[in-house]
Amino acid sequence: MKLLVVGGGGREHAIIKKLKENPSVTEIYALPGNGGMAADATCVPIGATDLEGIVNFVREHPVDYAVVTPDDPLVLGCVDRLNEVGVPCFGPRKNAAIIEGSKAFSKDLMKKYGIPTARYETFSDLQAALDYVSTQPAPLVVKADGLALGKGVLICQTREEAAQAVTDMMANAKFGASGSTVVIEEFLEGPEVSVLSFTDGKTVKPMVSSMDHKRAGDGDTGLNTGGMGTVAPNPYYTPEIARRCMEEIFLPTIRAMEQEGRPFTGCLYFGLMLTKDGPKVIEYNCRFGDPETQVVLPLMESDLLTVMKATTDGTLAETEVKFSDKSACCVVTASKGYPLHYEKGFELTMTPEAAAHTYVAGAKLAEGKLLTAGGRVTGTTAVAATLPEAIREAYRLAEDVRFQNAYRRSDIGQRALAAWRK
Ligand code: AMP
Ligand code: GLY
Repeated sequence: MKLLVVGGGGREHAIIKKLKENPSVTEIYALPGNGGMAADATCVPIGATDLEGIVNFVREHPVDYAVVTPDDPLVLGCVDRLNEVGVPCFGPRKNAAIIEGSKAFSKDLMKKYGIPTARYETFSDLQAALDYVSTQPAPLVVKADGLALGKGVLICQTREEAAQAVTDMMANAKFGASGSTVVIEEFLEGPEVSVLSFTDGKTVKPMVSSMDHKRAGDGDTGLNTGGMGTVAPNPYYTPEIARRCMEEIFLPTIRAMEQEGRPFTGCLYFGLMLTKDGPKVIEYNCRFGDPETQVVLPLMESDLLTVMKATTDGTLAETEVKFSDKSACCVVTASKGYPLHYEKGFELTMTPEAAAHTYVAGAKLAEGKLLTAGGRVTGTTAVAATLPEAIREAYRLAEDVRFQNAYRRSDIGQRALAAWRK
């Protein structure tokens, strides 16, 4: 079988490595991929949002199945375009990807179907938004409606800060068009859990839970990033909470999307907060999370391609989705200065042992050498019988991932460990 994977980060590298475990896979094209995964896929320099280029590519290089994972091509309708030219795809169509593409849509969906989430209002009029802010207790969370590379969420400690954030988004277009509509919501507190799930639009099968580390610095300080590391399973996510989430959140969401005429197929990511009033949805993503995927897939025991195809064929109910009961930890190595300013172009080297455990997010090949080419450069994952062993082993391996301005958080998994020990 020939496969196409649209995207080019650590998440896609993890997906490609897992897909390759299926012996029927003979070729994987990654568009665009990156130099660090060239040994695992044929990387073709066509951007993930170049839908025209992607469609033209598959006309010339027929594939049996495609996997689309980044948010922007999904929201733009990449799956619809590939389906039109006869390529079955893992991932939601455009009318379902809106669950991530518009926060106003997803908040309204949750309100309409009684799915627990933070109290909120949506505004496209600046004065109305400012009036609302002046009546609400702080802290307040202000979110740009559209995709904003994870940066469109501002936690505001005071009403004044919230008013400034609203003005920046709506009047000063700080987040471009994605901020012309804003969602203002109540501040929730509690441990966060990421649950990725497979769904064919009717059945939903959650993967092992995980915990992201979004802030750049140790102790959860500094700016929000795409994610500096992950552990799985998430020790806060007990079987009792999992049962509640299935009943109160996962199934109601899948049914709501179906009822809206927007059946969701692919991977639906539930970003949850475990508040004292129960689990609530912080966000939906219409795709695998990154770096969550880099701990979740190494724990998956079922064949990924088989499960992906079951989401497309509508046969997920009959398909086994099994995870190991081991633990995994992924430590991201980034360029110093990420997520703001950083230098790239430094040589990236790894011992063979480290390379076998590492997914490459941002590197390019030049004259046979790997050079850093992004903020997040690698994710190094270890699987072990227990969480402390997985953390220790991931750090030991990550030490052997080297480049000049390498930066890692030193405390990935420590919060999870504190909960695990209780
Ligand atoms: P989002 O892009 O919606 O996932 O938001 C990014 C991060 O902001 C989340 O992972 C949370 O840590 C935080 N956040 C978002 N919404 C809220 C909220 N209502 N209360 C507290 N923290 C939030
Ligand atoms: N790690 C969070 C995300 O993929 O959105």
